[in-house]
Formats: sequence, C-alpha cells, structure tokens
Amino acid sequence: MCGIVGYLGKRKAAEILVDGLRRLEYRGYDSAGIACLYDQKIDVIKNPGKVRTLRERVESSALESIKKANVGIGHTRWATHGPPNEVNAHPHQDASGHFVMVHNGIIENYKSIRSGLAQHGIECISDTDSEVLIQLIAFCYEGNLEEAIAESLKKVKGTYGIVVMTDHEPGKLVAARCGSPIVLGLGKNETLVASDASAIIPHTRDAVYLEDFDMAVITETGVQMFDLQRSPVDREVMEMDWDACAAEKGEHAHYMLKEMFEQPDSIRNAIRGRLDFEMGTAILSGLDFSPRDAAMINRVLVVGCGTSMHAGMVGEYAIEEMASILAEVEQAAEFRYRNPIITPSDLVLAISQSGETADTLAAVREAKHKGAVVAGICNVVGSTIARETGRGVYLHAGPEIGVASTKAFTCQVSVMLMMALKLARTRRMPLNEGEELCRWIERLPELVEQVLAQSDAIKAVAQKYADCENAFFIGRGYLYPAALEGALKLKEISYIHAEGYHAAELKHGPIALLEEKTPVVALLNNVPGKDKTLGNAEECRARKAPVIAIVSEGDEEAGEGFNDVIVLPDCPPCIAPIPTVVALQLLSYHIAVARGCEIDQPRNLAKSVTVE
Ligand code: F6R
Repeated sequence: MCGIVGYLGKRKAAEILVDGLRRLEYRGYDSAGIACLYDQKIDVIKNPGKVRTLRERVESSALESIKKANVGIGHTRWATHGPPNEVNAHPHQDASGHFVMVHNGIIENYKSIRSGLAQHGIECISDTDSEVLIQLIAFCYEGNLEEAIAESLKKVKGTYGIVVMTDHEPGKLVAARCGSPIVLGLGKNETLVASDASAIIPHTRDAVYLEDFDMAVITETGVQMFDLQRSPVDREVMEMDWDACAAEKGEHAHYMLKEMFEQPDSIRNAIRGRLDFEMGTAILSGLDFSPRDAAMINRVLVVGCGTSMHAGMVGEYAIEEMASILAEVEQAAEFRYRNPIITPSDLVLAISQSGETADTLAAVREAKHKGAVVAGICNVVGSTIARETGRGVYLHAGPEIGVASTKAFTCQVSVMLMMALKLARTRRMPLNEGEELCRWIERLPELVEQVLAQSDAIKAVAQKYADCENAFFIGRGYLYPAALEGALKLKEISYIHAEGYHAAELKHGPIALLEEKTPVVALLNNVPGKDKTLGNAEECRARKAPVIAIVSEGDEEAGEGFNDVIVLPDCPPCIAPIPTVVALQLLSYHIAVARGCEIDQPRNLAKSVTVE
C-alpha cells in the first residue's frame, strides 16, 4: 500500500527520496510526491501516476529547494479516501504552507476533526483523511514540532505512520507510528526514515523499528525517541540482512520472474541449519519450545491471508497428519471478529511474508489477549508481527518485490513442513520417518530446479490459453491448497477469472460453468485420492473443457488423453505442493506476459495490506 520515505543528512534529498519511492513502487500506489525544505522554504512536487513522472518533474525542476535541500519527505499513495489526483496525493501541507506531512494508515475520525478545524476557519482542500492531521498539527503548534504532533495524535483514532517537517524548525524531521510501520535507517551523518526497509537498504543496514505510539525526532545530531507523553524510549538497533542488489531485478524481465527463479536458493536459505538428521527433526530455535512445551500443545491454529493462508493450509494438513495434533487454518480477518474459542494449550501461528498485514496482526493481538501461545512465520525481520509475537521462524527468503507472492510461499511451506516435523517428533513420529522427511525437505531446492527447467515448455502451454476468460484449478489433499494458490496467482497477474476448488466440489455447482473455452488445471500428481481427481478431470473433459493435467514422473499415463500435460518430479504428498505451485506460478506468469499484463504491479493490488 502507501509508501513513505524521508531523508535528513548531507546529500541531495530529492534524489534519495525519488530513488526510495522507486524502491517502494512494488507496494502498489497510484500517485507520488516529495517535499523538500531549503533556506526556510518548503516546496512540494506531486502527481497522480508513476514515480517516473515524478522523477522527470523533479529532474527538470528549477526550484531551489528541490535542487539543493538536504532534508525532505516523499510518498507513494494507494487511494483510499478520494481518487488519485494531485490534490489528494501526499505530501499534504497545512493552509499556511509551513507544515508538510506524509501519512500511511487511516484517520478514522477525520470527519469530526475536519469539522472542528472548520469552526476555527481552517478548511481542508483534499478528500483525504490525511490532510486533517497536518492541519491539526499546524493548529496545535506553539514553537515545538514534536509537542504539536504528540498533542494532535492524542486526538486521533485510527492508524498512522507519519513523517512531518516544518520550515519553522528546518533541521528536523519527526516520525510517529501507530499500526503502520516506520523504520529508521541510521547512516553515517544521515538518517533515513521509511515505511519499509527496502527504501533504506542501499544506504545503511542499521535499522530501528518504531513501536506503536513512538515518536522519533531526527536532527543532524542523531535520533531521539519518545512516547506520546514525551518520556524517552529506547529501541534496539537491528542489522538488516538483505543486500541492496537482492531488491533489484537485474537481467530478469520482471521481479516475479527473478523471484520464481530464486526459489531453489531461497528455500536453501529457509532450511539451512534447521534439519537435524541425527534426531530426524527440525531445529527452529526462534520457536523457543522444549520438547515438553511442544508436547503440551493441543491444537494449532494458523492465521494468515491470501497466499500466506494457502501455505498455512499445507501446514494444517501436515501438522494433523504427522503430529496428530488438531490443526485449523483460518482467514485472519475472520478470526478476530468471530470471537474464537482459545485455550492456553493452543498454539496460534501467524503466517505473513511482510509481517505487516493488518488482519493478521489483529488476529495475533486477539490470540495473545485470549492467552494462546503465539508464534510468527515472517519474512521481514523486525516487522510488526515478528516483534509482537516475540517468537517464531523467519523465512530468510530475501526481499520479495513482485506483488504476486512466489518465493515467500515456497519458503512458508518449507517452514511449515519443518514445524510439522518438529511437532511430530515430540509425538508419535518414529526416527526413521523423521530422517526420511528431512531428506525430502533437503531435496526441495533440487525439485524446484527441475520444475523451473521446464519454463519454456510451460510457456508453450500458457500461450494456448492466454485468451481464456475463466479457468479452474482442481486438486485434493495437499494439492487442494495448491489449486487455490494456482488460481490466486492467475487472477492476480492475468486478470483471468480463476477459481480453485477441491476436485470433489466441482460437481456441487461450479461444473455448470464449464465449456470449451474454460480450461481446467487438474492436479493429478501422486497424492492419495489422485484417481478420484482423475475421474473429476474426465468429467470436465466430457463437458468439452480443455484439461491441463499436472502429473508425476513415472505416472505419465495419468495425463493420457488430456489436452496438455506437465510432468513434475515424483515426491511424497506433503512435498508435492511446492513443485506443483512453482509450475502454476510459471503458467500464470507466461499467460500474463502473453496477455501483455503489468506483472510486478498488478492493478488495484498492494504488496502489503496494512488496513483492515
Ligand atoms: C498474493 C499475495 C497476497 C498476500 C496477502 C498476505 O500473491 O501476495 O495474497 O499473501 O496479502 O500478505 P502477507 O503474507 O504479507 O501477510
């Protein structure tokens, strides 16, 4: 969703801000802008549309502040209140023009604040909820910016990550957060502030994440942190382990393509040092469970959204099957509001690539409040979910920039399998089965390589179906979540209406939609129930729907008679979702490319969904 970047140092702010916004583009946005402060004057340049338009305007600007300032703030906006146009774009200024702010999140009581300001003759000019906040800060200002911000934030309901500056106090930026991430990058003689580490990685690895209700006052002499009562707070400096080129797409046409091809390495990183062959188990030290703690768990609840939820479903199946622990997966947004029954012997696993998804975070808070043991499975180190759960497992997948999640999914499933293995070995799983599963998990990178090697063959299949308008994905058991994920990938990047179904469910309604131009991707690899799925695929064929059969090596006859066949390496059922989803990622990608779609920033989508 929206992105924030701010800079205070010795270098030219405008260049750093625009570059930072470019790095945040992947989050999804529809307008962009920067504000720079020089010689006690603030100038703002903003526009609907792309960062490259903003860059052209900045580069050709004759404004002194844009050319010379060493301090400034920038923003990419993903419209919520009001359409994407210049007035609604950030940064927003107060009526006097002396104060300027960028904001992520939603000010829920903006209407009442706006009418309160109107009673004092202050009129807002945009449709946004954000503008009221900078008008309010200017109204509360009595000579100290952080005091005015603290006063104003006490009146606000909702979520915010903000950075503010004023020409009354030129060498200062003030950042604050509640519910929307803010990370500071501590460089040499300079400080960066952003909503997402990817904007600061090229400049420094030392990062400090603000907690809710923290304020950071950034000046030339460094950073001071306070809470809203102005008492000092101390936050840990973390070292970010991502390098800057990991967030560049290099020679690949798209980030998504690069990230799909990174999967052998990202899985290697996710499993490195975590397989204990001698004990036939997994070492997940961040979970901080003794075997006895693990043995006390009566139920595992996995909460997440979208692709992460699909990875959680694989975990649900694996935990029940291997560890014989009752496991359930739930859409995180639903979890909070349906008042779930939670007991102290429940383990709640929050699964989130970004670690910032508002619905998943809300579920974490609800589960903690109800006394469950809560752990996170996140990619972004130091993200809110990682910090609030306090225990968990990092994916180590590296930055995922493509909006459609690929390498995070396969790493999440790898971690879920290790989690199931660890729990299973404290219960009934014998040593030899544990060792066998370790061996298969270790082979995952190699299996994924075999699938990626088929990219051209999958592209040839994709081109045949690039003009379809509907598609179905069907699977059973461990391949049911894979069918859901395959359909999600296709709809996200190609805008083809696609649905994933349990193969048995097709007959209960959706089959009515089948016709000659509606391909069905049937997941017929070797998992229990394959023969029944084969029967369901035949039912589709009988209704003239073209069938793309995904089969296992050595069982090619399962694909006989179908329109297209993709052969994947044979592996145990719990392993199968990973190679299968990699094949479906490639299929979606090649279809979307053939349709000329925007791959890395699909319409309407945001990489990290930080509002409920
Ligand atoms: C789909 C996708 C989304 C995310 C979902 C949760 O490709 O990326 O469905 O999986 O928005 O995001 P995280 O994992 O960051 O919590």
